[in-house]
Amino acid sequence: MSAAASRILGVGTYVPPRVWSNHDLSRLMDTSDEWIQQRTGIKQRHWVDLNEETGPSDLALKASLKALEAAKTKKEEIELIIFATLSPDAFFPGSGCFLQAKLGLTDVPALDIRQQCSGFIYGLSIADQFIKTGTYKKVLLVGAEVHSKVLDRTTRGRDVSVLFGDGAGAAVIGATDGSAKDGSRVISTHLYADGTHAKELWIKAPGTAYAGDSITHERVDEGDFFPKMNGKTVFVHACKKMSESLTRALEQQGLRPSDVDLYLFHQANARITEAVAKQLELPADKVFNTIDRFANTTAATIPIGMDEAIKAGRLKPGMLVACAVFGAGFTWATALIRW
Ligand SMILES: CC(C)(COP(=O)(O)OP(=O)(O)OC[C@H]1O[C@@H](n2cnc3c(N)ncnc32)[C@H](O)[C@@H]1OP(=O)(O)O)[C@@H](O)C(=O)NCCC(=O)NCCS
Repeated sequence: MSAAASRILGVGTYVPPRVWSNHDLSRLMDTSDEWIQQRTGIKQRHWVDLNEETGPSDLALKASLKALEAAKTKKEEIELIIFATLSPDAFFPGSGCFLQAKLGLTDVPALDIRQQCSGFIYGLSIADQFIKTGTYKKVLLVGAEVHSKVLDRTTRGRDVSVLFGDGAGAAVIGATDGSAKDGSRVISTHLYADGTHAKELWIKAPGTAYAGDSITHERVDEGDFFPKMNGKTVFVHACKKMSESLTRALEQQGLRPSDVDLYLFHQANARITEAVAKQLELPADKVFNTIDRFANTTAATIPIGMDEAIKAGRLKPGMLVACAVFGAGFTWATALIRW
């Protein structure tokens, strides 16, 4: 039987303990705390211990166990795992399979999705559809990243490497018949992409679109295995697409920006968030930011924002939450949630 809607039953997060301040990075490359804070609002990020065998599925496991506890859900109740990451444990198989094994589950389908900073909202939309059709009652949705191991932590890669942090966030999404007094549910999700900008932010290798072998010494020397970004183009599109799509999502529901209790935007740069808030005339106290402490954790950003907002007493049952995200692809997405 199909469900009236899906709702977020609980969230959990995990970040590795080691904190790297901007000062720490200035010992690795030619950068400064002043430059990073002024341009991005980032003060620090968490990175895994580079000597340890830690992949995103390890961070995801810790976040998932917390989410299951918050959702009062036994892991055996999970019928689908959706794993959003751009920094998977391995080229294949997907990190969802690694996570499934680490959770001690078998037979549960595990789906990896690759929409980068938009991954969690894309995943929420997929979970929402599966639940509404009655296919599954409980879905584990995870966004997890280990960026640090694929960043060029030298001056050559400083425009990108200072921006990213490692971390994981998970949510248990469950069916609701709509009878909850507070109306808790995923109200809407909208997904977008524009692949004409795919190479404005990407990692070229390893890939199979090359003539010849994918992995060569020359490509290692060229830095093809590190992310490359046209920062200004990404910046302009992120501001425009997040504002436009959020406005459309609210209008579709007959809502005004002032009806929203909390805005959770993707955290790539404090200046992007400020520009979107300014354009939509949002009061600063309704926009919840985490970039100063965690930097850009890509697919983990939105659930980390949810969890931190709950801990800070800023996100409570019954609130109307608006999420807008933007990332490589380009991909972008919105979600309106009655918490
Ligand atoms: C990356 C970003 C912070 C750069 O800010 P910017 O104001 O565009 O800075 P610029 O690219 O003009 O660089 C200015 C100078 O700082 C230098 N610079 C770049 N990174 C630096 C760093 N980490 N430390 C010090 N200097 C740095 C540049 O080399 C450049 O030097 P030059 O003027 O001598 O050539 C900004 O473009 C951005 O945030 N873009 C969007 C990123 C994003 O959202 N990514 C994820 C998408 S989900």
